[in-house]
Amino acid sequence: MGLIVPDEWNAIPQEVLRGVILVIGGVDTGKSTLVRYLWQRLTASAQESMPALLDADVGQSILGPPTTQTLRLPHPEQPTAFPPRGRLARWFVGSISPRGHMLPTVVGMHRLVQRARRWGARTVLVDTSGLIHPQAGGVALKWAQFDLLEPHTVIALQREGELEPLIGPWRRSRRFRLIELPVSPYVRPRSREERIAWRQYRFRLYFRRARVVEIPLSRLALLGGGALLPGRLMGFLDRHGFLVALGALRRWDEERWWVYTPLSDLSRVDAVRLGSGTWEEERVVRREQTSNE
Ligand SMILES: Nc1ncnc2c1ncn2[C@@H]1O[C@H](COP(=O)(O)OP(=O)(O)OP(=O)(O)O)[C@@H](O)[C@H]1O
Ligand SMILES: [Mg+2]
Repeated sequence: MGLIVPDEWNAIPQEVLRGVILVIGGVDTGKSTLVRYLWQRLTASAQESMPALLDADVGQSILGPPTTQTLRLPHPEQPTAFPPRGRLARWFVGSISPRGHMLPTVVGMHRLVQRARRWGARTVLVDTSGLIHPQAGGVALKWAQFDLLEPHTVIALQREGELEPLIGPWRRSRRFRLIELPVSPYVRPRSREERIAWRQYRFRLYFRRARVVEIPLSRLALLGGGALLPGRLMGFLDRHGFLVALGALRRWDEERWWVYTPLSDLSRVDAVRLGSGTWEEERVVRREQTSNE
């Protein structure tokens, strides 16, 4: 279905669209659709400096494989295209949900925003996960993002008061501009099966040119523990901590791992970080919990 732009979206003033812009809301509130609309506005207005797009949703990601956060700049020749196809940086969170992985979630967002700035982007538009409930740590997670990323604007999509514990206190703060929007009636909620299918599609897309690569362990920093199992996901990181490539374990011995990965060149790899899920035969299994986002 085509995008139906609510009047409230057109009414968002252009001057709030600068600095870090965080789009927040629960699951199925139209966050990614609003991000896409705002991206078109940002790239279409010639007076704006080059914007960057940060997809920080590790579960229903739009710019990269699940378990990762992806930063993209516009392609110089197609600046208004969505998804953007310019310079790329990734962070490995290691899980398809921020639950239990909140530190890498906020650290990754911060490092990617820093990188966007280093690349010359003054506006960074951020899509976030739908984890908002206080009992699940959603409030702590978003408040940590407010503190760390210092957003200029937070755009909150709310249905019926579910964001109150998260945004209520900030209405009186002058730290950032808070824009509150209702959820569009055109939002189509997605079932658990559709969410799993989307993740599988994104993983398949990512691994489409993968092959099994032999990894000599003696030369790399091995970060993280737990049992080795077939399919266990891992991130190959560069010497700044950014993701070079994802991999999925196939087999192993004392000195070497054989890993299914699109990685072609080990020279940029400094460390291997083990994730908490597996990717195997087009199947993603979460080990630590079964609830969705
Ligand atoms: N304004 C709109 N007009 C038409 N369709 C919309 C609109 N907003 C959302 N949708 C549709 O609703 C669905 C969910 O929207 P979207 O993916 O943006 O939500 P989300 O909050 O990012 O979800 P998630 O929590 O899974 O990340 C999509 O199929 C999208 O196309
Ligand atoms: Mg989304």
